[in-house]
Amino acid sequence: MTVNGSVALVTGGNRGLGDRFVRALLEAGASKVYAAARDPRKVTVEGAIPIALDITDPAAVRAAAEQAPDVTLLINNAGTSLGSPVLKGDPDTFRKEFDTHVFGTLDVTRAFAPVLARNGGGAILNVLSVLSWLSVPDIAAYCAAKSAAWSITNALRLELAGQGTQVSALHVGYMDTDMAAAVDAPKTDPAEVARLALEGIDKGLYEIIADDVSRQVKGGLSAGVEVLYPQLAH
Ligand SMILES: NC(=O)c1ccc[n+]([C@@H]2O[C@H](COP(=O)([O-])OP(=O)(O)OC[C@H]3O[C@@H](n4cnc5c(N)ncnc54)[C@H](OP(=O)(O)O)[C@@H]3O)[C@@H](O)[C@H]2O)c1
Repeated sequence: MTVNGSVALVTGGNRGLGDRFVRALLEAGASKVYAAARDPRKVTVEGAIPIALDITDPAAVRAAAEQAPDVTLLINNAGTSLGSPVLKGDPDTFRKEFDTHVFGTLDVTRAFAPVLARNGGGAILNVLSVLSWLSVPDIAAYCAAKSAAWSITNALRLELAGQGTQVSALHVGYMDTDMAAAVDAPKTDPAEVARLALEGIDKGLYEIIADDVSRQVKGGLSAGVEVLYPQLAH
């Protein structure tokens, strides 16, 4: 898959990492970039094509796939982080995280998979997180949803291989966007993450690891939960 010359659609393309993806795609020579947003009036990037899309609204998802029949690169970026610990969190909040990261993203992918097939295969990038691999108690719902999205991404990679669609995952820790505004920790520049992710797509990477914390946690997976969660070590 080559980003240069592709026709891309980015969900949540109006701000944060999605906005940086839209800019990076245009800079990398994408021939057309659909910036999908719940409110398309909030898309500000010159040269992008705003398109209305709430990924949790199945009718809107179907309409988007009809309005963008030439897509060759789908970037599933839209996401929320609403909090919600496992035991004491609001069950509705827990469900909402899954509605967005799991069911909404899956719905978009199902709608666009035939579009990609008709256009020669193309590629999908799912924006995941270091928290696909590590749980943080205060935002356990988000972590669980990102873990589920990782599992689905791996299934999709196998299922879509037959139609020639490349499936990549982006894993990253805190980025400097609204989502992490309240976090007091080092954050990466989302513009740099978007640029790196597009390079990863060009290279055909299955997983694009965008920062050191994601690399460390991935490396720790084989060492077991005692290493991933030092507070458990006896
Ligand atoms: N920021 C981080 O530290 C971090 C770290 C790892 C991974 N990520 C992931 O990176 C992706 C982008 O996050 P971000 O940091 O750019 O967050 P952000 O600044 O809060 O932006 C979130 C974007 O997702 C859109 N969105 C949320 N729910 C949607 C829905 N139902 N339908 C369509 N669009 C929806 C938002 O649209 P509205 O403007 O309409 O709300 C907004 O455009 C997410 O998947 C997130 O989980 C973020």
